[in-house]
Amino acid sequence: RASSSSEKETKKRAKEEEEVPPSVLGPSHATIHSSSVEKETIEVVTDDPREQLKRYQEKYRYSIRHPGAFWAELAYENYSWENRDEFFKHNEHNERENFDARKGDVNVEFFKGAKTNIAYNCLDRNIEKGLGDAPAIIFESDEGFEREKRCETLTYLELKEKSDKLANHLIYVCNVKPGDVVVCYLPMIPEVVVTMMACARIGAVHNVVFAGYSAEALAKRIIDSEAKVLVSAAMSYRGGKAIELFKIVAEAEKICEIQGHRIEERVCHFNLPGSEPHTDWPKEKAEILAAYKQRHGGNEMSPAWTDAPHGIMRPYYGLCLLESFDLALDEQESRPPPVTIWRDAEDPAFILYTSGSTGAPKGVVHVIGGYMVHVGETMKEAFNVKAGDVTFCTADVGWITGHSYLVYGPLLNGCTSILYEGKPDYPNASRLWEICDKYRAKVLYTAPTVIRSLKKQGDEWVTKTKRDSLEILGTVGEPIGESAWTWFHDVVGEGKLPIVDTWWQTETGGHVILSLPNVGEQKPGRCGLPFYGCIPAILDPQTGKELDGPNVEGLLALKPPALPGMFRDIYKNHERYVKSYFQEIDGYYVSGDGARRDEDGQYYITGRVDDVINCSGHRIGTAEVENALARNVFVTEAAVVGIPSEIKGQELFAFCSLREDIQFLKEKAELKSSKYTPEQLIVRDLMDTCAKEIGSFAKPTGGILLLQPGTGIPKTRSGKLVRRVLRKIAKGDLTGDFGDLSAVANPESIQCIIQAKKKAN
Ligand code: WTA
Repeated sequence: RASSSSEKETKKRAKEEEEVPPSVLGPSHATIHSSSVEKETIEVVTDDPREQLKRYQEKYRYSIRHPGAFWAELAYENYSWENRDEFFKHNEHNERENFDARKGDVNVEFFKGAKTNIAYNCLDRNIEKGLGDAPAIIFESDEGFEREKRCETLTYLELKEKSDKLANHLIYVCNVKPGDVVVCYLPMIPEVVVTMMACARIGAVHNVVFAGYSAEALAKRIIDSEAKVLVSAAMSYRGGKAIELFKIVAEAEKICEIQGHRIEERVCHFNLPGSEPHTDWPKEKAEILAAYKQRHGGNEMSPAWTDAPHGIMRPYYGLCLLESFDLALDEQESRPPPVTIWRDAEDPAFILYTSGSTGAPKGVVHVIGGYMVHVGETMKEAFNVKAGDVTFCTADVGWITGHSYLVYGPLLNGCTSILYEGKPDYPNASRLWEICDKYRAKVLYTAPTVIRSLKKQGDEWVTKTKRDSLEILGTVGEPIGESAWTWFHDVVGEGKLPIVDTWWQTETGGHVILSLPNVGEQKPGRCGLPFYGCIPAILDPQTGKELDGPNVEGLLALKPPALPGMFRDIYKNHERYVKSYFQEIDGYYVSGDGARRDEDGQYYITGRVDDVINCSGHRIGTAEVENALARNVFVTEAAVVGIPSEIKGQELFAFCSLREDIQFLKEKAELKSSKYTPEQLIVRDLMDTCAKEIGSFAKPTGGILLLQPGTGIPKTRSGKLVRRVLRKIAKGDLTGDFGDLSAVANPESIQCIIQAKKKAN
């Protein structure tokens, strides 16, 4: 009897350990409505990593047992909703298999039926809390360009005012309705945040396109997202160079028009060199030119602006409106702020295009409520922030990291986000650290490629700065590896700061696996543990079976339930959404990355295992680059693989089959008379093609190998490129030892390619 009662005791204790005491979690669901009493009893925070790990484990256990309640509580407590009680009725849905494709359609839903607005949560909620005069955005401009240095702070109130005015413009001039898509082709200037907030306020869906994309790529994204309104800027400045964005926009518009898609309204933020926006510009062309000249010490306005395809630019309040507009933004001055449109938590917030293994880029759809809660909470937990903290995320706003941890995450938490326009190493390698010092940043969130390139320039660029405001160093985008991790930790953080590595994807919206500050042992190169409410799995690449326990390596996948920030669809392509992510291995979301789990349950990301290449933190689909190259006149067929690169992580390497009639092309006069060989000219032309079709970042800087006509590229009988072999050759492994080639339809091509590579070396 004695033993059975002690057994009971043990069981009871085990159960108690599993269920989290309310003091760890905050008020439980049942007590939420009388939260004031509960709140005072909570939270004894300790810095002891073992304690922290225990706290994490308890909270984690609860979160995956009761994901619906876990997220609903956070959503209820920390965000504004029009009808907060609503979503407790629905959270059962998320208790389990919301994306197990075997059990029916993938259907991830959080807080459905509850209405909210993410701009209200970013701005008004903080203003109501008394943060109106706190800086929301600090803009640090690029250096070295002739224009006046523009360092600007937008307080929460100013950001609201500016975005309200633009929102009114979008409503009254551009006729934007809730649910309409607005393409934003904008560089790293405060206006990008203004625009995102304006869209969110009125329920419009923003589609931010990275300003490094070419006109072709921009046009593709405009057409695919069926956008009728385009917001852009006149210029982009980076590393002392100015790029005339407006010209790219005009070209993209032409491409759209040729393909039968008309942009009905456009807004262009005015950021011409050497000038600040004025409020009192005249309306007639001649007068504008005269006024410009007078204000700019006798300099004429650049022809790029006076001869813009839609007529001369007319700057108003920081916006440059084209002559085709009837109303100007200043007319919004007299209007009251727009009405906040409360939208269902499951309505789309934005589309962001990203590259996949195959085919065209996909429009990843995120919804308002789940994204907001996931990003707001991960920002808080990963970076330990509270209102008033200064955070510095170096990612471009055109990528998901910029969306989530430069714009939404900091604003949802009442932080001050530094928006830096330029390059990390321009004018010198101290730039990032100087910005941290100048604005007293608490958090720096950057990418391994940046860390590696700054490391290469020597420690003194770092050590001569103070960095004493920094408390957390974050990283994202690629596997950081031991050497970059160690340098970041030892030199930048002087061995004192936690490195918070964060693994996630455009698709997941926010962090998934990460090293929460002081949770678990800091180990060089580790990524960390799963965030609350999420269950990672490692799968055997051959069988697709889940590998249990510690010390296993394989494909990184996620099991249901979903995190609330998980994407809900591929725009206009639900079938592709289900097929390419959830049906490859039934029951799992397959991430496309490889990972290892160690004896402590910590994850190490080994990199992409599919045909996506991670080059300097840019996610590039090989198929996109192959298609671009195959459109070049010299080429019949192309294959692209990634090769390791010391700084960039990976670089693109291309194999291009030349056309039969290449001799004729070679003999063309311009090739003959040039000081370059025909091959060099072709390679250069191919580089230009990639820049034109996609963007400069997609050039195969790892090399282009031209293959004589008839060589062929190794493929399987079903026509799939044999990348395994191509990767080896690209890396310079010419031993010919490629393992089993029985599936290759044209094995003879391999020897030809090896010969070509030897010759090229
Ligand atoms: C890679 C960026 C290792 C990974 C947020 C993923 C990482 C892809 C990490 C998504 C990390 C992101 N460690 N690899 N901490 N974070 N990745 O969609 O290959 O631009 O699949 O989202 O970046 O890139 P995306």
